[in-house]
Amino acid sequence: MNPSWQKGYSTKSVYLQTPFHQGIGYVNLRINAAMIQVQNVSKHYGELVAVDNISFQLEKGDVLGFLGPNGAGKTTTMRIITGYMPPTKGSVYISDIDVFEDPQAAKSHIGYLPENPPLYEDMVVREYLDFVADIKQVPNREKNGRIHYVMEKCGIVNVGKRIIGHLSKGYKQRVGIAQALINDPEVLVLDEPTSGLDPMQIIEIRELIKGLSGERTVILSTHILPEVTMICSKVVIINKGKIVLEESLERLTNKIDGIENILLKTRYWGEEIQEKIISLPNVSDIRLGLSNELIIEPKKGVDIREDLTDLVMQNGWGLLEMRPVVHNLEEVFLRAISTEGN
Ligand SMILES: Nc1ncnc2c1ncn2[C@@H]1O[C@H](COP(=O)(O)OP(=O)(O)O)[C@@H](O)[C@H]1O
Ligand SMILES: [Mg+2]
Repeated sequence: MNPSWQKGYSTKSVYLQTPFHQGIGYVNLRINAAMIQVQNVSKHYGELVAVDNISFQLEKGDVLGFLGPNGAGKTTTMRIITGYMPPTKGSVYISDIDVFEDPQAAKSHIGYLPENPPLYEDMVVREYLDFVADIKQVPNREKNGRIHYVMEKCGIVNVGKRIIGHLSKGYKQRVGIAQALINDPEVLVLDEPTSGLDPMQIIEIRELIKGLSGERTVILSTHILPEVTMICSKVVIINKGKIVLEESLERLTNKIDGIENILLKTRYWGEEIQEKIISLPNVSDIRLGLSNELIIEPKKGVDIREDLTDLVMQNGWGLLEMRPVVHNLEEVFLRAISTEGN
């Protein structure tokens, strides 16, 4: 993977003035345009390489869908980004602050909803938020205003006096997001915020997250692929600790839309089938599907079904099945994680 973070640097000339001088001239400063930069980060747990040399960067306002199967390294990466765990190698910058040189300063820019939110089950919602505001050093004069704002934003005003342990999972998750927002962070890191919720709660939390993006930069891990298309502006898929796909949602949907692949099953099976199909003038790609059928990608806007049928007939391969398959995010995901990081 290219160290794409390098693109995030720009050099700006800054005119410096001090009270003692009229101006001491132009100085070149290395200004980093990215909000979050993950640079060649690896994490080893003993022998296990949980995160393997990953790099990516996010600009202000980006909403990243961070995808990958269980055990891919998502939670580990998120803990490193939020400064809760040091990497074995590499660095993370949040708005130019090195997370490991100055974790306190970095944390003041970050709101984090861990996989298991640190909720004190026997505390009352409002008291808990007050407590978190103190821990996160929200100034006293701003505290009530902030608590009110996050309760309103997360739709928990009506449960402010309830004991956290008595709330439904959906409401607990809202409290978890509220605590992440209490210090008005520019960066929000949410580790599977909709996992374990029922379909109605999922929609509510998703709407909440949508409403929180905008000015903020958000990293969101999830297993629900349609969620990514609804909320995110960018997708990173990791598998076995490595990034296997990094793409803006716009480019991804452009790739996905408008191309209808053809699934083909034949009785006869041989190498030359693939060779002959890829030689057809309107075929742009061919690969094996999940159960060894052929998935054939036509050139954009071309219907290749007749050509394919003719080819199968001429060669006597025995047509068993031919149908269009929608090239969706799920397929992109499965394809990305089946290529072992290539
Ligand atoms: N504290 C830990 N000690 C040892 N191994 C760990 C620890 N945390 C996670 N792992 C292992 O690291 C890999 C990545 O885990 P994790 O980051 O939790 O993945 P994900 O969130 O994508 O499911 C897994 O193989 C997991 O078992
Ligand atoms: Mg996880």
